[in-house]
Order: sequence, then structure tokens, then C-alpha cells
Amino acid sequence: MIEAVNLTKYYPPPIKSLFDLKSLKDFLKTPREEIPALVDISFKVKEGEIYGLLGPNGAGKTTLCKIANGLVIPTRGHLYIAGYDSIQDHDKIRGRIFTIFGGSRDLFGLFQWRVSVEKNLRFIAELWGIPKAEAERRITHALELLNLEEKRHEWYQKLSAGMRQKVYLVLPLIIQPEVLILDEPTVYLDVFTRREVWNAIMELSREVGTTVLLTTHNLKEAEILCDRILLFNKSKIAEGTPKELIEKVQALKAERKIIAKIKGRINPKDFEGIAQKIEIQGNGESMYIQLYFKNEDLKEILSRLSQYNVVDTQNSQVTLEEVFTHLCKR
Ligand SMILES: Nc1ncnc2c1ncn2[C@@H]1O[C@H](COP(=O)(O)OP(=O)(O)OP(=O)(O)O)[C@@H](O)[C@H]1O
Ligand SMILES: [Mg+2]
Repeated sequence: MIEAVNLTKYYPPPIKSLFDLKSLKDFLKTPREEIPALVDISFKVKEGEIYGLLGPNGAGKTTLCKIANGLVIPTRGHLYIAGYDSIQDHDKIRGRIFTIFGGSRDLFGLFQWRVSVEKNLRFIAELWGIPKAEAERRITHALELLNLEEKRHEWYQKLSAGMRQKVYLVLPLIIQPEVLILDEPTVYLDVFTRREVWNAIMELSREVGTTVLLTTHNLKEAEILCDRILLFNKSKIAEGTPKELIEKVQALKAERKIIAKIKGRINPKDFEGIAQKIEIQGNGESMYIQLYFKNEDLKEILSRLSQYNVVDTQNSQVTLEEVFTHLCKR
């Protein structure tokens, strides 16, 4: 449904202020380097898939979303949506794709401030050509799903900033686009609202079959929502399911971590030769031992720990956050 082929974008170099220039010669002589935003990015997203674009600030995520909307022209390469080139065939794409930028609180000015949420939604549904009865059904369902029923008759103006953002996220549920592009959709939302939005995105993908391209800095969000993830910083770093990415890093670091609370004293020598790193804390009645080891040594570690009076253990897996920091380290 979405395919990027060697997508590359270099922004033009910033122009020096005339006041900073000593002479015209100085201006002509200064090399003006272009700013790379995307370099040879290729990926394919299947219909109904939720595909995450992850990368540090300035990685090129928003640039990619803008290319999908025809707002930025790539220097090289193509982005195809439903087989159409996002720039050359923009007219054919416009009705198939819906985008929310930067947790938009109505970037495009779609909402009337002194009009109720319901009337705004009806108006936008009409703009998208959704039959009246179907629009009513979708509006009711979307407001229920996002816990916004009591705001139905409220003026848009009277909503808090976060609520406005949430109302904006009702739109994909009403429009039900073939492709939904979400650039940091939950950036300003509280933890409860965020979960409601995750449910809505999942429902769109699973039940309507909407293909979702999502950028986020919330790694929990990526882990929960995304079927696959592209990790990149201008150019590609890694691609895979959240589980695959985690396993990749586990294999790289060959590390797993266990924290055990033990009654009595611990002799670190008991773990030498098997644990890669041993950290011990406390010296009173109970002590904490933190052991880093290879996956295959789990059994042996547990057996050595069993000689002690273990009160509690915490066996932690590598998280997507560790993957991110490990693979994106600058
Ligand atoms: N209009 C522009 N003109 C010049 N350079 C730009 C422009 N827009 C973005 N850039 C540069 O392109 C690079 C990628 O920016 P982009 O906004 O795509 O990153 P991002 O991954 O969305 O970052 P963030 O996580 O901060 O939102 C950055 O170096 C940025 O400074
Ligand atoms: Mg961005």
C-alpha cells in the first residue's frame, strides 16, 4: 500500500544574512552545504499494517510525512501510495490519505471555533462525501470510543487543548481513509487519553483495514501499536517487528539482567565466570544483586542463585527503549 524507493531529501542550505557578509566575494566563496533530511530510505507497508517511523530529533520523520502529502518534493527517489507517486499523482492520492501533523490542534483550520463538536464533525464528514446516515453512525461510535460523548454539544472553542487534539483524532474514524499518516499523534496527551487514541488507531487498522504510517518518540506506543518499525536517522538503521528489533539487540549485547533480593550475605565469587557484570548493593540483613549475563546462561544463574535465600527477583527483558538508545547512539 505504501512503498518508499530510495527516498532522499536534501534541503537547500540556509542563506546567510546579508548583514553577516563582509563582501560579495565572501558570499560566493562560502561553501553552502545542503542539509540531508532523508538518505536512500526504502520500505514497503502492507495494507492494514501499522508501520512505525522511529528516529531521534531531526531524523527525517516529518519530512517523510510531508513527502507523502506532496508538501515536500524529494531530491531523489519516490514514495508510492496505493501505487501512485506522492508528488506526480498527488491528485489521485488526496482522497485516499488523511494526515495529522505534530499532534495537530487543527493545523489546517478545519474546525469552526463557535460551533459544536458534533456540527464540526458533520461538516467535515460532508466535505469528505460521507453519506449522512453513515456519518451519524461513525460520529456516535468515534465519540464513544474516544470518550468524548459529553463534549458532543460543546463549542469547539470551549475544549481544552488536549481535548481539541483528541477531537482531531476523531476525524480518521469518521473519514476512514485508506492511508492514515500520524506524525506524533499523542504528543501532548495524558496517559489515559493516549490509550484511548491507541485503541482508535488499532480499530482503524484491524477493522477498517486502514494502513497507518506513524511517527512517535513514545517507545511504548511504538511497541504496542506497530506491526513493524523502521528505525532511521536520515538513513536506515534497522527494520523489523518490535520483537525482532529487541532480539537483535539482545543478540548484539548478549545480555539479560536479573535483580535478586537476598536475605543474608552474598559472595560475588559464586557468580564469577558466568555473569558478565555483577553489582551488589546493601550490607544489612538483605542485599540486592544485579547480574548481567548471556541468554543461554539463565539456567546456570538461577541454579547458583538457588543456594541463597532469595526473597524476590526481577528478570528484566531488553525494551524497545534500550534498542533505540543502543542502535541510535551518535
Ligand atoms: N524547511 C526546512 N528547511 C531546511 N531544513 C529543514 C526543513 N525542515 C526540516 N529540515 C531539516 O531536515 C532534517 C529533518 O527534519 P525533520 O523535521 O524531518 O525531522 P524529524 O525526524 O521529524 O524530527 P523531530 O523528531 O524533531 O520532529 C533536520 O535536520 C531539519 O533541520
Ligand atoms: Mg518531526
